[in-house]
Amino acid sequence: MEEFTRLSLYWNLLYPDCPAGILNSFVKSLEPLRNPDVQDGDAEWYKDAVVYSLYVDLFNHDFAGLRAKLPYLQDLGVTCLWLLPILGSPGRDAGFDISDHYSVRPDLIGEGKNEDEFSGFVAEAHRYGIRLIFDVAINHTSDRHPWYLESRKSADNPYRQYYIWSDTPDRYAAARIIFKGIEESNWEKDGDQYFFHRFFNFQPDLNYRNPEVLFAMCRVLLYWQQIGIDGFRADAIPYLWKDEHTDCENRPMTHIVVKFFRAVLDYVKPGTLLLAEACQLPDRVVEYLGNGDECHAAYHFPLMPRMFKAIAEGNSDSIRTVLDPSVTPAIPAGTQWFTFLRCHDELSLERVYVTEAERAFIHQAYCHDPQWDFREGEGISARLAELMERKPEKILLAYSMMLSLPGTPVIYYGDEVGKLNDTAYYQEAVRLNGKDDTRFLVRGRMDWPAVAEELRQPDSLANQIHSALKAMIRVRKCSKVFGNGTLQFADIRNELLMFQRIWHNECWTFVHNLSRNPLEMPDIDGELMLGSGLDSEKIEAYGYRWIRTTVNE
Ligand code: GLC
Repeated sequence: MEEFTRLSLYWNLLYPDCPAGILNSFVKSLEPLRNPDVQDGDAEWYKDAVVYSLYVDLFNHDFAGLRAKLPYLQDLGVTCLWLLPILGSPGRDAGFDISDHYSVRPDLIGEGKNEDEFSGFVAEAHRYGIRLIFDVAINHTSDRHPWYLESRKSADNPYRQYYIWSDTPDRYAAARIIFKGIEESNWEKDGDQYFFHRFFNFQPDLNYRNPEVLFAMCRVLLYWQQIGIDGFRADAIPYLWKDEHTDCENRPMTHIVVKFFRAVLDYVKPGTLLLAEACQLPDRVVEYLGNGDECHAAYHFPLMPRMFKAIAEGNSDSIRTVLDPSVTPAIPAGTQWFTFLRCHDELSLERVYVTEAERAFIHQAYCHDPQWDFREGEGISARLAELMERKPEKILLAYSMMLSLPGTPVIYYGDEVGKLNDTAYYQEAVRLNGKDDTRFLVRGRMDWPAVAEELRQPDSLANQIHSALKAMIRVRKCSKVFGNGTLQFADIRNELLMFQRIWHNECWTFVHNLSRNPLEMPDIDGELMLGSGLDSEKIEAYGYRWIRTTVNE
């Protein structure tokens, strides 16, 4: 009953004027779903996972196509798939505009098949030792969602209060516009009133001041939890609760809403991952981990641009600074950072977590084509291989850093074979959604016959990246030090990024040469587990070494 006590506490904070009976009936409705004794053999699986994110259709048409690629993913070493939005949607924001929370898009299911296709896929992925998480946009829906279609009918419609309506577009004036240069206001007129939207004007924000919205979203999460989904990426989490005269980000009640989700999931079946997507500074993001009672994990947003900055500068300072405990606080037991180089979005340079000088430097160093700009200088829409100008040594250096620094790594589909920006796909998407969203440049379809051909050629970019990345993952999977170990930077010339990770009786040392010149290799005793060269005197430009230094039995 511990979760019930937590739920009551949160309920009273969120809805002090609502009778407790409403919560009691909700909790009662959960009874038939409960499976609290299910014990996952590996409750903290997300700490040691290797995550791969993909759009099912762009990756390989549909779930049958994805199923056929499970051996490929397993061979790469993937242990968790993050399925980018798969639920019913008009697809104007690549599926983050959900119009039906209870069904998988028919084009992903395939003609003549039913929803069993999806549960069959879940079971098959699990047989391959691959867990599944997916996106639920909890902050907003599509303007085609039945809740919204009802809501817009009249002011006294029962669904009116699912969204935020106002006579004027003046409320929450301190909330910044996130899609700068694409949207001009957070309000959109529909009928006699305006509705509030933090993202596109076809994505009305949900109103969590209405407890029905909270229950409705809980039911969505529970539904997919029952089908076997291992976790949810909580999209756009900082914006859930709005308070007048504030920036409407990271509000105290937003955290209570998230804690409520967590307690509900734990009450029904413990161990379902909640992953926070909060583009904020680490000290704000750790708030989403609570005391281990909110999300299990959160993306480390500022580390990502700083890995790019360090490579461009040939200097490790920016990584050391961002991971210093004064910037990245310790996180509660049982929680984890998720790290990434690239994802389905732009290389984000939001001013909430990079300084103006860093933003300008990274933009200048990596936005090689003005077409890649996103949000007026606050982001770059480009794939990893494009940003690194197709230089395999730089790409692998970046992967080596991500895979050896603390956190659970996320690989974006196609980046393991050097996939490039796709202008034709971007143009197709702009025609469909009517917005100049350059992020579609990094989305594009996989061309598997071409990939197979490239992988057959030893010197191709695809093969160089794929084989080295696979080797890194293989080594990573042989020790828990990667997902769990402590971090200690070595005091050494700043062209090198050198650090130790320690976990129980294991100690590993990692050395990265960020400069364009070979450098003297520091003296380290141990077993070389991985490295882009065996010469021990020098470490080549952009080279890396993974060394197991001690194993005390
Ligand atoms: C998240 C997604 C992004 C989407 C936005 C609005 O930031 O990563 O792709 O556009 O939420 O749903």
